[in-house]
Amino acid sequence: MGSVYAGAGRGSNGHGILGGMSSQVRDMFASIARRYDHGNQVLSMGLHHRWRKSAVRLSGATPGNRVLDCATGTGDLAFEFQRAVGEKGSVIGIDFCAEMIEVAREKASREGLGTRFEEADALRLPYADRSFDVASIAFGIRNVDDPARGLEEMARVVRPGGSVAVLEFGQPGGPLFGPLYRFYSASVLPRVGGWLTGERRAYEYLHRTSSAFPSGTAFLEMMKGTGRFSHVSGRGLTGGIAYVYVGTVGAPVSATAGGGAAS
Ligand SMILES: C[S@@+](CC[C@H](N)C(=O)[O-])C[C@H]1O[C@@H](n2cnc3c(N)ncnc32)[C@H](O)[C@@H]1O
Repeated sequence: MGSVYAGAGRGSNGHGILGGMSSQVRDMFASIARRYDHGNQVLSMGLHHRWRKSAVRLSGATPGNRVLDCATGTGDLAFEFQRAVGEKGSVIGIDFCAEMIEVAREKASREGLGTRFEEADALRLPYADRSFDVASIAFGIRNVDDPARGLEEMARVVRPGGSVAVLEFGQPGGPLFGPLYRFYSASVLPRVGGWLTGERRAYEYLHRTSSAFPSGTAFLEMMKGTGRFSHVSGRGLTGGIAYVYVGTVGAPVSATAGGGAAS
């Protein structure tokens, strides 16, 4: 499964599925920033809220924790973490797209949440080693130029014993659900996404990248390959449409998969 993905292993050129296209990715998100949330809500039929709650729960975040949400976009995962860590905790969301961050800041002030947002590259985090209890990324690891490097960078800023939590699309299997989902992803999603946001190519990109990105055990292998986690685990959500992966930062020991992650 992972072999079609250029960035899955360290024998590759180290670039993501579109091969070092950060500025194009940033421009694409800038052009849909104001309509991104609406597109998410409709196209996931509201499921993304449930997936985010699962990611926060599985990350092990507790009240008072310091959390860094990478490629935070319009901030929905960061806000979910903020609710979990409470006022004594702190959440910073970073993204390299100023337009997405602007929407996140407006939402934070509307909802009276103290979440901070900063413009930064997930591959070069401007934070000291061991500064956070949890680092997270939702639907973003697939977009960074070098996903393994992104995981390493997140692990670097998390204290030993803390966690790196990744929420990302998978490729659902099964004789009925698999083909049905592939049809939805390849045909319905770009059409409806284009209609909702005016940027069909953003949803073609979503299909292209998510259908080739390693999921389940292939992604866990990528996490293990970084050598930064003492334990990694994965959980499939909604029949494998999405996955939550969690790595405990520390010297490598073992891996487990549950809920369909071992695909
Ligand atoms: C599909 S959106 C996900 C946004 C948000 N995390 C969510 O769950 O809705 C992907 C985001 O990744 C950001 N991104 C991609 N590569 C990045 C990088 N190297 N550093 C920071 N942000 C990045 C994009 O700007 C975009 O906002």
